[in-house]
Amino acid sequence: MVIPDHVALILDGNGRWAKKRGLPRTMGHKEGCVTVEKTVEIAARMGIRYLTVYGFSTENWKRSVEEVGALMQLFRYYMVRLLKIAKANNVRVKMIGERSRFDRDIVEGINRLERETKDNTGLTFVIAVNYGGRDEIVRAARRMAEDLEQGKIEKEEITEQSFASYLDTAGIPDPDLLIRTSGELRLSNYLLWQLAYTEIYVTDCLWPDFDKEELEKAIAAYNKRDRRFGGVRTT
Ligand code: IPE
Ligand code: IPE
Ligand code: MG
Repeated sequence: MVIPDHVALILDGNGRWAKKRGLPRTMGHKEGCVTVEKTVEIAARMGIRYLTVYGFSTENWKRSVEEVGALMQLFRYYMVRLLKIAKANNVRVKMIGERSRFDRDIVEGINRLERETKDNTGLTFVIAVNYGGRDEIVRAARRMAEDLEQGKIEKEEITEQSFASYLDTAGIPDPDLLIRTSGELRLSNYLLWQLAYTEIYVTDCLWPDFDKEELEKAIAAYNKRDRRFGGVRTT
């Protein structure tokens, strides 16, 4: 079985998982964090090179103050745990998204995670927080426009490749496989540029229930796909 280099995940269904059990939504998020931890270890052992997870979207601020507050508390707590897990598993952590909207201690925690794991050579674990695909593209366009204004680049140098180097994901290959849990058939503003030719797999499994078996099922489905990238199959 071919292991995809880069797996992107939309971890959805924490709320539904909790509701099914008569628990508050925040309990679903807590359980979801445990699943993220486990998934990082499983992916690292499977030999996946890049794992990108959607933790909090630019639209998730619309949720109640209580839910957003609880999610921030979980970030605080799990950032510390993640640092330990990353060190133990040779994992390099990188955050994408617009971080200035977070409290200062969270921003510092993110910077520390990136700094202290930057030389690790195993799995690269990318976390999308306060991330929106459109927001990322607009921020990239602005920075590119600044460089143009300052004469650092010429108009003719604007290409798909150079533009991608202004995105938060600069240096990271595009995802091969996108997995969305909980059955929704949409992208919800995730990696809009990067998912151009990614294979999409949706499972009804709720995120807190996701495990090694579910990941293997997704990879098995990926192995049956015929990736043509707009070309024609010759064999
Ligand atoms: C995903 O679970 C986690 C976040 C978006 C932070 P949800 O909270 O969206 O769970 P559902 O979709 O309501 O079940
Ligand atoms: C997408 O899930 C965002 C994350 C998983 C962080 P949502 O639950 O926010 O997406 P919608 O609202 O169902 O599109
Ligand atoms: Mg959801």
